[in-house]
Amino acid sequence: MQRCKKLKETKPHKYPLDEKVLVTCGLPYANGPMHIAHLRTYVPGDVFVRYLRKLGQDVVFFCGSDTHGTPITVKAEEMGVTPQEVVEIYHNHFKEILPRMGILFDNYGSTDHPLNHARTREIAQKLLDNEYIYQSNVTLPYCPNCQRFLPDRYLRGTCPHCGASARGDECDQGCQRYLEPGELLDPHCSICGAKAEMKETRHYFLKLTAFEGFLRGFLDGLDGTDIAKNYARQWLEQGLRDWNITRNIDWGIKFPGDESLVLYVWFDAPIGYIQSTEEWAMRTGGDWMHYWKGPGKLIHFIGPGIVYHHCLFWPAMLKGSGYSVPDAIVASGTMKVEGHVFSKSRGYVVWVEEDYLAYGLDPDALRYYIVSYTGHTRDLDFNWRTYGDKVNKELVGSLGNFIYRSLLFAHRNYGSVPEGTVDAEARQKVEETVETIRDGIDEYEFKKICDAVLGLADYGNRYIQANEPWKLVKESPEEAANVIHNCVWLTKAIAVLMEPVLPFKAEKVYELLGLTRNPPMEQALTPLETGAELGKPEPLFQQVPGDEIEALEEAMVIRITQAKG
Ligand code: 2FM
Ligand code: ZN
Repeated sequence: MQRCKKLKETKPHKYPLDEKVLVTCGLPYANGPMHIAHLRTYVPGDVFVRYLRKLGQDVVFFCGSDTHGTPITVKAEEMGVTPQEVVEIYHNHFKEILPRMGILFDNYGSTDHPLNHARTREIAQKLLDNEYIYQSNVTLPYCPNCQRFLPDRYLRGTCPHCGASARGDECDQGCQRYLEPGELLDPHCSICGAKAEMKETRHYFLKLTAFEGFLRGFLDGLDGTDIAKNYARQWLEQGLRDWNITRNIDWGIKFPGDESLVLYVWFDAPIGYIQSTEEWAMRTGGDWMHYWKGPGKLIHFIGPGIVYHHCLFWPAMLKGSGYSVPDAIVASGTMKVEGHVFSKSRGYVVWVEEDYLAYGLDPDALRYYIVSYTGHTRDLDFNWRTYGDKVNKELVGSLGNFIYRSLLFAHRNYGSVPEGTVDAEARQKVEETVETIRDGIDEYEFKKICDAVLGLADYGNRYIQANEPWKLVKESPEEAANVIHNCVWLTKAIAVLMEPVLPFKAEKVYELLGLTRNPPMEQALTPLETGAELGKPEPLFQQVPGDEIEALEEAMVIRITQAKG
């Protein structure tokens, strides 16, 4: 049956193509190697950016190292080196490993870059000038033994909200709430264990309470995932408190006007998004103000533990100093490893280099796991059994199988794209998949996209199986050629549609098909030209054998047991 319906659009639904979009991912602390919970944010962010670009949107994508605060100084003390040395080691590590996972930021900056010092001080000064920052004396925990105040990670005690053991600035093992200095019950020094004394000292506060009305309207208009908006609304209902933005440590960005204090790491960290944009602009001639003071759209991809900072502190800082505020905050669900909440100290962790890439495992397979296993706002459990199943059944058995058998048959029998016409049903399937991708992008639901493309591969497998070109090639060569013409086109469509998730594999398929890199989305709807030369394929994905999965599981069990002590 001939379909006379017009081609469906291949533009994004949400933002008109003349709107430029800036996407960021939460900055990793430069205090340890890259792990799977980092990827829980960076892979979906990268996939989102790649899809938008495929749809023709002008997108820039930024991240950088979060280099200040007690996460860094505590690590430096543990390692017996300076904070600068810690930052250098892990900043270089991130820069090296991100592209190996196919995560391609347009700039990977650093919050210790002079641009960030300058921008942070400028924003703090604006907030001072606008009377959103005030000085106040507060009584804070002090270690008589180490003879210093105990900000944030130098302090452990009991969460006043839920009773769990918590850090100075966050209830890391319980309710995940942000905690103000001095709030923690039964405070102890995390370095020497001494009971903290309380001592008066001078600090500076951002008048968060003055932004309540603004934040209400901001959250009403905010796009992104419900997880971000709902949490933030709840906190707003519980009432805001002014925010202590200074700390008694040396490492950090000096507070303008009182250089004995540094700004709290959560003040200068998100300004790192602006720093990364400015660094990119200096290198490329781009316009950073278009995004941060102009009409460009701002989208932040973050993990669930940092919603408070992104939905309340950050928009208030931006608003109070005359910058644009975020358009969307895309918070994911939590990361789990082997059914347990991700925890480096308890061993429920997968280190990207040590546990994955060093074994020669496929970066595309891990990208696929992360975006396809559950919806973006649900808990994502990583376990090696599921990994083996997904690779073997979905990537090898379905997607890889269809592409390999189609291209092998085509290469062996024709060497080039054989003559044929596009099958109406196949075309409809591709069009539907494009439409589902556009919906998935709008909804930040990457699983939906993966399921649709896998569905297209399943369709391809059924199509080739039902038409049996290996029989037709003798009985009816023209029909056989037609079937393979369609299979090669479906292969092209699958590669184009899946490229943002599986960029390394898509590249290989493009080479075999003689296509240039990064074809736009509408290329999925365009069959290859008859006679175009085809390369000799190899299987796209490798089976992961059962004994390899067992060995990987075993290594994980050993780490968890060791962590228990
Ligand atoms: O929670 C964290 O890991 C922080 N380093 C995230 C910072 S995101 C941004 F605001 F800088
Ligand atoms: Zn708590």
